[in-house]
Amino acid sequence: MRFVKEAFQENWLSTVGPHITAFEKEFEAYVGLPAAALASGTAAIHLGLRLLGVGPGDEVFCPTLTFVATANPIQYLGARPVFLDSDSTTWNLDPDLLADALRDRARTNSLPKAVIVVHLFGQCADMSPILEACERYSIPVLEDAAEALGSTYKGRPAGSFGDVAAFSFNGNKIITTSGGGMLVSRNREWVDRARFWATQARDAGIEYCHSEIGHNYRMSNVLAGIGRGQMKVLPRRVKQRRAIAHRYRKALSDLPGISFMPQAGYGLHTNWLSCLLINESEFGCSRDELIHRLDTADIESRPVWKPMHLQPLYSSLPRYRGEVAEDLFRRGICLPSSSSLSRSDQQRVISEIAQAAAYSKSRLAHCAASVGYRFATDSD
Ligand SMILES: Cc1ncc(COP(=O)(O)O)c(C=O)c1O
Repeated sequence: MRFVKEAFQENWLSTVGPHITAFEKEFEAYVGLPAAALASGTAAIHLGLRLLGVGPGDEVFCPTLTFVATANPIQYLGARPVFLDSDSTTWNLDPDLLADALRDRARTNSLPKAVIVVHLFGQCADMSPILEACERYSIPVLEDAAEALGSTYKGRPAGSFGDVAAFSFNGNKIITTSGGGMLVSRNREWVDRARFWATQARDAGIEYCHSEIGHNYRMSNVLAGIGRGQMKVLPRRVKQRRAIAHRYRKALSDLPGISFMPQAGYGLHTNWLSCLLINESEFGCSRDELIHRLDTADIESRPVWKPMHLQPLYSSLPRYRGEVAEDLFRRGICLPSSSSLSRSDQQRVISEIAQAAAYSKSRLAHCAASVGYRFATDSD
């Protein structure tokens, strides 16, 4: 509130002002790379791909299991996404599949212009083998770290591995500016270029002269003020999200047919969203039935992202496999995970899921009895 008030008092309300510069500096100190504050994470991906030289006719490799905002900027640039499946141990881009796909493309001299890696739900993809595969063919990497601010891989922050990375401060993210994004790169000139493009690419001088196409993609000083305040609470937010995930695990892991998103040993998973898979035959009801039951109890939950190759928008595009992502989508549910979720509200979510399991079990037993089948009991 203090930073926002300052923005109003000093009358810096638009896309120039001291909070923007300060927010970028503070973000740079956190991630360790120069940063440009933008209007959204999508804008950061768009400008990031532009920095990597993606243009009409190019192809860009992209995980199929993600939010659509990862893939759309590829099309904004006239290029074409090629979708790759996930690894079931991280839910992120499968490094072995990526290596195979790149080898396949090298053989036919049709390598992609860039590879996008997404860090889903607060967990980093396995970056070492991914970077190794890309370096072999000199393919640049864009990290979509929209969901992963605060997470680490081998001790380093998400977003510090690729040639360029994008973060989001959308309202649902671990910290927010109401809407906003950040582009980072170790190449300071690229970050300056992104800032230039984000402010309509106006050439130096008093005339409104433009030699390149630009965008209206800059963050406002008011929102940067919110971002500065949010950076101060980021470590606390990470702790809160992890505590929520821990409580869900403790309470629900023993229920039949539930398996939580794996927590890879190579880094810190913020658990921006707490996600789990439902095995219908063991749990007794499907993922959709569980979502419906929670909804009836006024609890909002969501399916895991619908893979891009299943989207009407993208179903005709080339891909490398997709069955792992399809399974995660079909069985995956994201539970209420907001940092402000109270213990009693979380307990209500837990109780509803436990009751759904118990109800499903008794319903199954009832159906089985009516056809003369007896389930094993603890005393058997
Ligand atoms: C994986 C992923 N990429 C990109 C975005 C886009 O970010 P924004 O909403 O800030 O444009 C989001 C979230 O919205 C996201 O979850």
